[in-house]
Amino acid sequence: MAVLPRIYTYAVDTPASSTIVILDFGSQYTQLIARRIREFNVFSVVLPCTTPLAEVLALHPRGIILSGGPSSVYAATAPQADRAVLSCGLPILGICYGLQFITHHLGGKVVPGTAHEYGHAEVSVAEFTPEPPSQLFHGLPAKLTVWMSHGDHAERLAPGFRITASTANAVAAIEDPARRIWAVQFHPEVAHTKDGAALLRNFVLTLCGCAQDWTPAHFIETTVAKIKAQVGPTGHAICGLSGGVDSSVAAVLVARAIGPRLTCIFVNNGVLRKDEFATVQKTMRDELHLNVVAVDAGERFLTKLAGVTDPEQKRKIIGNEFIAVFDDEAAKLLAAEAKGESVAWLVQGTLYPDVIESASVHGPSHVIKSHHNVGGLPADMKLKLIEPLRDLFKDEVRRIGADLQMPEDILQRQPFPGPGLAVRILGEVTSDRVAILQEADAICTAEIKRAGLYRKLWQSFVVLLPVKTVGVMGDQRTYAYTCAIRAVESEDGMTADWAALPYEVLRAISSRIVSEVRGINRVVYDITSKPPGTIEWE
Ligand code: XMP
Repeated sequence: MAVLPRIYTYAVDTPASSTIVILDFGSQYTQLIARRIREFNVFSVVLPCTTPLAEVLALHPRGIILSGGPSSVYAATAPQADRAVLSCGLPILGICYGLQFITHHLGGKVVPGTAHEYGHAEVSVAEFTPEPPSQLFHGLPAKLTVWMSHGDHAERLAPGFRITASTANAVAAIEDPARRIWAVQFHPEVAHTKDGAALLRNFVLTLCGCAQDWTPAHFIETTVAKIKAQVGPTGHAICGLSGGVDSSVAAVLVARAIGPRLTCIFVNNGVLRKDEFATVQKTMRDELHLNVVAVDAGERFLTKLAGVTDPEQKRKIIGNEFIAVFDDEAAKLLAAEAKGESVAWLVQGTLYPDVIESASVHGPSHVIKSHHNVGGLPADMKLKLIEPLRDLFKDEVRRIGADLQMPEDILQRQPFPGPGLAVRILGEVTSDRVAILQEADAICTAEIKRAGLYRKLWQSFVVLLPVKTVGVMGDQRTYAYTCAIRAVESEDGMTADWAALPYEVLRAISSRIVSEVRGINRVVYDITSKPPGTIEWE
């Protein structure tokens, strides 16, 4: 496998006039801070807390946020940031661990709390007449319901700081406006903190003075210009299409920059949904005007899958086979199109959460590993990566796609796993079973869409079980497969609740599957959340 050089290194150039840098101390909520800020049309990046101050300042941020984190600031293993950050003169907002980091390093004292505060808490905002009130809390009510998640608390403030809010047990907010440092013990970024967005808005817009110009139009314009400059007037690029949102938006952006010099490869792996190989091709060609090479390798995949029942084995086979097919096609294209040029480009739909998750809290930013959405490619191809979405969250990708006038049908698609229906056919994957599941799944999707539920659900699909049961149809005894309906609501797929689909919708799905799909005579409904279950059955 080739190690592909990264082209869009970690937030190299700021794509908007104002940037907020978030230094990550390892909180599970750090990404949320970035998302909230971007909702104000202000660009924000998450960097590991160990990023040297010079690198942070090279991004010309308007302000810096120190995130929460699971450690204690006084512990030997506590994640560290360059302390000079606290005297760099930019507005700083500490959140949770960030508050403790500020207090600890500027001469205050952080100690283990007698009671851990976890969950909802009531916060009272301090009044300072005749002194001016805290600008951070401007326009917010005097009593706030917030989300707390901490064991330690600030027992003694650093010199120059004042308390601007408190709970019954602990300091909830502090500030030293002269030094332009503000901090809160609670999490304004989570939805449970009712006025959290207003507080962040005060910091980002009022205290940092950020311009709200991180818009889809701006992103598209700067990204297209950047790709044009990178690929040059004669360079070629290839892109693996899955039919999903990310690869499609990435391809359309690159095509805007280099037109037909982008070739998209779309592979039928034999475990796509009903009619998907044809419909995706049609959309990509007719509506998105992409240059698509479609490879019908279904049989090749199914042959490799014969007799395999272990889920991880299925994944491995499909992954390896995909790389093999993609390599064959890419090699042909590169030979033909690039006419011997050694430089060619590979487009990937890597998203920002992949980038952040790959970065270690303790490691420097350049250890971020590459995400190989389409697998590795042989080293002699020397492909360079174009990852136009690596600064974006999923909902931002959808907004960009909408601005690019891409069809709703693509932008609102539910996620579909790379190994496709293979991980929804328990037991052996055969062409007969694929056909049965394709029919049942199409019915499920149609009924969910008809009920207006498709966009509300994170995923909704059918799983084919290797279990046959007895039934009766007309006067005939049947002995056929059981299938399960899986429908979940989720924010990001990490956790999920099973969806309480209306009985009428379940009834319609069930009766249509049993009467229309030959091979299934029983339908059950999966009512397991994640955790402890996973979304897919395999
Ligand atoms: P689980 O089943 O782990 O799924 O709760 C979480 C999300 O990931 C998707 N998924 C996959 N996607 N390759 C993929 O590209 C895979 O092997 C795979 N397994 C699960 C799943 O559909 C859900 O959205």
